[in-house]
Amino acid sequence: MGKSRENKRKPPREGRTITVGRAEAVPPGRGATVQLKDGSEVALFNVGGRFFAIENFCPHKGYPLADSKLRDTTVECEFHGWKFDVTSGECFTKPQCSIDRYDVTIEDGMIKLHV
Ligand code: FES
Repeated sequence: MGKSRENKRKPPREGRTITVGRAEAVPPGRGATVQLKDGSEVALFNVGGRFFAIENFCPHKGYPLADSKLRDTTVECEFHGWKFDVTSGECFTKPQCSIDRYDVTIEDGMIKLHV
């Protein structure tokens, strides 16, 4: 079984590094939506000072995961409770519905997203 929904706002893999903002703007334990210039977006999470990015899209019905609750490294979709590992994009609820993750680094306090 494939994904039940297609993410039309998934950033294309282009080998680019994009500066998306200051690390202090995303407090530990929180998520943030990062919208890129082309209209695509990722969900960025701060897990105790470590940053992770995944598709901002729950493959169940498309709810944006950045707005969902983060517990340690697991984000639980607000809509119907599907759970994802923000470090890997793995879907705990339905492993075949795992989503993409993106590398994130912090340089001089700035968040760098690698797509
Ligand atoms: S949209 Fe249903 S669990 Fe996320």
